[in-house]
Amino acid sequence: MAWRYIRSDMKLVTGQIKLKKSEVRNQSSDKLIKLGREVSRTLGFKQRFLMTYRPRICPFDVLMDFVPDGSSILDIGCGNGLWLFLLSRLDRIASGIGIEVDREKIAIAESIKDERDNLEFIALKQDDDWPKGEFDCVTLIDVLHHVAPAEQRVFIGKLKKMNTKCVIIKDIDPKAKIKSFFNTLHDLVLSGQKTFYCEKEKVAQWLTEDGFKVSRTFRCDRMWYSHYVVVAEKS
Ligand SMILES: C[S@@+](CC[C@H](N)C(=O)[O-])C[C@H]1O[C@@H](n2cnc3c(N)ncnc32)[C@H](O)[C@@H]1O
Repeated sequence: MAWRYIRSDMKLVTGQIKLKKSEVRNQSSDKLIKLGREVSRTLGFKQRFLMTYRPRICPFDVLMDFVPDGSSILDIGCGNGLWLFLLSRLDRIASGIGIEVDREKIAIAESIKDERDNLEFIALKQDDDWPKGEFDCVTLIDVLHHVAPAEQRVFIGKLKKMNTKCVIIKDIDPKAKIKSFFNTLHDLVLSGQKTFYCEKEKVAQWLTEDGFKVSRTFRCDRMWYSHYVVVAEKS
C-alpha cells in the first residue's frame, strides 16, 4: 500500500489516492481554457469570460478528435469564432471559414484574428447559400437548436450539397429533460435566443437519408449540459 504523503483534500481508499472530482476533469479542456483566454484577451469582460470558459461546458476537446489534421474546415454558426481559433492556434487545421447570421459576432471574430490564423469569417442571412468551396470537414456546434423545428430538416439537408468529406454535429439532447432545461436557461439569459432541440437519432436518420454514412453518435455531457455528437462521412 502506498502510504506516502497525502494532501488533506484527497481521500485514501485502501491505499489508493482517490482524487476529488475537480482534479480528474479532462486536462485538455483546461488547455483549451488557457487558449480561449489568450485568444480573447483584447475583448471586454463578458466576451473574454464566455470565450475563456466555453471549453469547460462545450466538449471541443472531444470534437477535435474527429477533425482530420491539416484540414480545411467550414464552421456553420461560428459565433465569435472560438472553435476555429482553438483549432488554428493548436495547428490542427490548414484553413477555416466561419459563417454566422449575427454580424456583431463576425466583427468580434475578425477583430481578434492575427497572422497565425488562416481564417475567414463571413456574415450571412438565414436563407443564404453556404460557401461552395471544397472542405475536409463541416461543423455545426450548437446551431441546430436555434433553427425553428419546421426548418430543421431543410437546414440539415443543405449539408448534402456541400463538397465535404465529413460532417460533425454537436447539439443538446432533449432526452435529458433537466439538463436540456439548463441549456434553455443558459441561452435565454446569455443570448435571449429560443431553443428547439432535435434528437440525435433524427439528425443521424436525416444524414443517412441524404447519403452520409453516420460513423459515430454519442452523448458527451459536461457539467449540467447534455451534449450529443453525430459524426458522418460522405459515402
Ligand atoms: C450557441 S451559439 C454557438 C456558437 C459556436 N458554434 C460555438 O459553439 O461557440 C449558436 C450560433 O448559431 C448562430 N446561428 C443560428 N442560426 C443560424 C443559421 N441559420 N446560420 C448560421 N448561424 C446561425 C447564432 O447566431 C449563434 O451565434
